[in-house]
Amino acid sequence: MDRLHSQTVTMAKVLVADPDPQSQDALRAALASAGHSMEIAPSTKDAVAAVDEGGIDLLVCDADMSDPPIGDLLADLRARRPETAVIVTTAFGSVDDAVCAMRNGAADLLRKPFRDEQARLAIERAIERAQLVRENEDLRHALDDRVQLGNLIGEDPRMQAIFKTVRAVADTRTTVLVTGESGTGKTVVARALHAMSARRHGPFVEVNCGAMPETLLESELFGHVRGAFTGATRDKPGKFEAANGGTIFLDEIGTSSPAFQVRLLRVLQDRILERVGDNKTIEVDCRIVLATNLDLEAAVRQGRFREDLYYRINVVSIEMPPLRQRREDVPALAMHFLRRFAKDHGKKVERFAPAALAALRNASWPGNVRQLENVIERAVVFAQGTGIDLKDLPPNLVEAAAAAAAATTALATPPVLADAPVTPLRSALEDAEKRILEHALVHCGGNRERAAKALGINRSTLFAKLRRHGVR
Ligand SMILES: Nc1ncnc2c1ncn2[C@@H]1O[C@H](COP(=O)(O)OP(=O)(O)OP(=O)(O)O)[C@@H](O)[C@H]1O
Ligand SMILES: [Mg+2]
Repeated sequence: MDRLHSQTVTMAKVLVADPDPQSQDALRAALASAGHSMEIAPSTKDAVAAVDEGGIDLLVCDADMSDPPIGDLLADLRARRPETAVIVTTAFGSVDDAVCAMRNGAADLLRKPFRDEQARLAIERAIERAQLVRENEDLRHALDDRVQLGNLIGEDPRMQAIFKTVRAVADTRTTVLVTGESGTGKTVVARALHAMSARRHGPFVEVNCGAMPETLLESELFGHVRGAFTGATRDKPGKFEAANGGTIFLDEIGTSSPAFQVRLLRVLQDRILERVGDNKTIEVDCRIVLATNLDLEAAVRQGRFREDLYYRINVVSIEMPPLRQRREDVPALAMHFLRRFAKDHGKKVERFAPAALAALRNASWPGNVRQLENVIERAVVFAQGTGIDLKDLPPNLVEAAAAAAAATTALATPPVLADAPVTPLRSALEDAEKRILEHALVHCGGNRERAAKALGINRSTLFAKLRRHGVR
């Protein structure tokens, strides 16, 4: 990494695929004087394989001996390894060859026999250029990272853990299962996984598996050949093939038939498939991300979902928490949407009235982040001043939030009835405390750490109290 950011060119790794001893001598002399390392590849094919593995800054390749032809090799490397520069050497080079090489992305062309000094100049220029490409790529990667996860808001520890997982697995080919209620951000996570991987320049193909009848879904995903069924008038590649080199996102899996599950298992296991109506096997190279809002484990127990498929899918799973279990995130999310919609609708709305924010925090959000997003858009449209008031929010949301808040207060202060028998103070207080603890736990989705924080006591005090009350 430090090499990439230093101004002067230091220690580059150079691979030479030119069998001519005279060329090798000149190159060795030029490289040694600049402090670069040099290795000899026995053939062009070996050289390409080594470049593919990464870490090579410069390839010097003999055009006359090259197999594949030098034009193809250059085009191929430029597409897959743009950070490796290529210098072409040739004994018979015509002007046409030179033009062709440069057009295909060669950094330079050296005509044999060449002198050390010529080689040295060409090498310095090529390495500098390669470093520039690399720095740009690094920068773009860093930006992608920020933008993609920057769009996902979540201070909640569970969200933070999710971001960490996304960063850790994005640049692998591991299958990822994203679960969670509707509107919790499953699709956003799938997109982030793609955007942060090396496959980000490849396709991102999204298929909603729940929205299609099964036979259609099969041909959609796996493709079909002409005559496979009535109406199949042409060969058609499926979405798996379309996602080659990229990511396929299978949304709403979980309701598919046994036959379909077998097909899916095969792609997951061996990355191979056959188009419907064909027995020719096709290899696919795509990252698979799946999402469902069903409980797949329950489906496995009930025999509706294959167990082996479940284990294949469940290599890395990310569970999106419902919004009501991470209410601390509501203000930040609300502000994020406020800014976005104010801009979209060209309105100068900048803040929330405290009562409006309290209502948003207390709402139960069955539709999760998507519902919050819609509520804020509507509020921005309705807002008359620069702030969003309670009256700009949907009335049913405000009522439900008020009821929830009242219930919390009622828990803490049970009604005093004159003719009710008097309870000894100690046990009355104990009862109230127990109810308050239980409520806090429910409110925080069972997370004791957060419950303790919300109650304003430390964790060990909460644990002791829970033990005393027999709350688990
Ligand atoms: N953490 C987040 N930060 C910012 N915006 C979010 C976040 N989570 C979700 N959103 C936004 O909420 C909306 C719903 O998210 P998304 O479509 O990813 O949900 P989903 O879980 O895929 O829902 P469904 O099950 O209905 O497909 C999107 O507009 C998305 O941009
Ligand atoms: Mg979705």
